[in-house]
Amino acid sequence: MISATPSVFDVSVSRSGPGIDRFVERHAPDSTHTYYGAGKVALRDGLAGLVEPGGNVLVPAYLSPAVVEPFHDLGLESRFYAVEETLAPDFGDLESRIDDDTVAVMSVNYFGFPQPGLERIASLSDEYDCYHIDDNAHSPLSVHDGTLLGTHGDLGVTTLRKLLPVPDGAVLYCTDDEVTSNFTPSSLAGRSGRIATADCRYVAGSVAERVLETSPSLHRSVEAFLSDGGDDSSSVDPSGRYEAAKVPMSRFAALVADAADPEAIRATRRENFRTWQEILDGRDDLTPLYDRLPTGISPYEFPVRASESEAFLAELEDCGVVGAHTWPILRQSVREDETYETSTRLADELVALPVHQGIGPSAIEAVGDRLRR
Ligand SMILES: Cc1ncc(COP(=O)(O)O)c(C=O)c1O
Repeated sequence: MISATPSVFDVSVSRSGPGIDRFVERHAPDSTHTYYGAGKVALRDGLAGLVEPGGNVLVPAYLSPAVVEPFHDLGLESRFYAVEETLAPDFGDLESRIDDDTVAVMSVNYFGFPQPGLERIASLSDEYDCYHIDDNAHSPLSVHDGTLLGTHGDLGVTTLRKLLPVPDGAVLYCTDDEVTSNFTPSSLAGRSGRIATADCRYVAGSVAERVLETSPSLHRSVEAFLSDGGDDSSSVDPSGRYEAAKVPMSRFAALVADAADPEAIRATRRENFRTWQEILDGRDDLTPLYDRLPTGISPYEFPVRASESEAFLAELEDCGVVGAHTWPILRQSVREDETYETSTRLADELVALPVHQGIGPSAIEAVGDRLRR
């Protein structure tokens, strides 16, 4: 069975590696980095010393609703800019939304790939004298043009939870000197020194997940049971999600991050990505979002546009892939606005397939055999 996230018990993450910190220092030597429990809180702390209430931040419309909550927490307005089919900004739309109160423009490196137009966003931010936030929540290990994604702006974030089998963990990057000197970490910065109940609960959950993996039907029943009980995090409102994220990085997440082997993880993810590419090649109903996997990129998932996404998800589930999903759940106001039609279409069509290091290419090939039958 192919699940959405790696397990604590996967070999490539539990074997002794040099850790995430060393990788970051090597690939982002000109940035300072600070650990957090969540990327959203890291974003708030990174901006707090730079902005006054009343400003606005431009973010892509193709985004999970909770990501703008830190801006609201700082008294800033979030303004959505439209995106193209490639996920590049619609630059005409973006520029029309910039005004004297714009304090920052945010780019998002979707699925571990640099957002198309990243360099242009950086130069526009310079031109309009506002900060460029490089949101790299999706992939802590992606290196683009020799530098870690997340450090291509004045400040940026990444989320360890999307890479490792951890309940939390994120990094704030301060790249620009002014950002670094105005940064005052709040009490939520840093890594917790002790093992908390939540850590034990997470490990217990991973054990349960391992057991459930032996039976797809049992897995589905438990999932259905949990979502009936309203325990599905996607059903929590954005501000509730943000408030719940206000915890420092757990001791458990720090231990896993320190033992991780970044090169092995990236290599496995790349191999899995290519395997999905091969097995889905030639299907008329599917269009992969990326046809190239540039050197240095550590894919978060394999995104593919499906003309019938629900039917494709059902087909995958029948073949044992329970970790595929559409992304993201858009804010209702975005869905209802025709300006963001492309974002809405993408959110309906795009299916993200897992490529994490807990999967071997042979498991994906076996899915390919079943899909062909
Ligand atoms: C693009 C993007 N940015 C930021 C975040 C926030 O990260 P975190 O959940 O660590 O707060 C997410 C989370 O899903 C995301 O998808």
